[in-house]
Amino acid sequence: MSAFSKRLLDWHKDEGRKDLPWQQNITPYKVWISEIMLQQTVVSTVIPYFLKFSKKWNTIDQLARADFEEISSYWAGLGYYSRAKNLHETAKIITNDYNSIVPCDKRKLLSFPGIGNYTASAIMAIAFNIKSNVVDGNVERIFSRLYAVDEPLERSKKYIEEISEKHLPNKRHGDYAQALMDL
Ligand code: ADE
Repeated sequence: MSAFSKRLLDWHKDEGRKDLPWQQNITPYKVWISEIMLQQTVVSTVIPYFLKFSKKWNTIDQLARADFEEISSYWAGLGYYSRAKNLHETAKIITNDYNSIVPCDKRKLLSFPGIGNYTASAIMAIAFNIKSNVVDGNVERIFSRLYAVDEPLERSKKYIEEISEKHLPNKRHGDYAQALMDL
């Protein structure tokens, strides 16, 4: 484990956020919903939406059976409505084809509407504690600062992804992904 990863994990133990609602009794369903909401939306905005949404639809099959109009009304104000549509479609697929269980398989996750490389990796790490390179804009910012990358992101994306991969620890994969976000 690199010195950076060790320090980050140590820091997370003492200083990481413990209050985020999707970190309480972690389930793959909650990780998935929260990661979709957190795309393009800041944590403080997401919290009340996440709480209302996960209270209303506690399980994947409840969400699959919901009326999309109602899902849409719970999404009002969050923006990017295609995310809500994709959540509903994915809930139906998981309910019908996967026995209502979020698969612990990155390739299967990637086949679902609205789940791209970042979200699939975040679910693998945070929900299943599987080593995964979780790289979004937040993580790109951390490693470009750490390595003083001054190239524009279009040119440095691949390099930053490689740096991030190199730093992955061999344990506490979920904590590490969450620690990067907290940082
Ligand atoms: N942004 C994306 N995923 C996040 C997470 N799990 N916690 C905080 N911010 C995030």
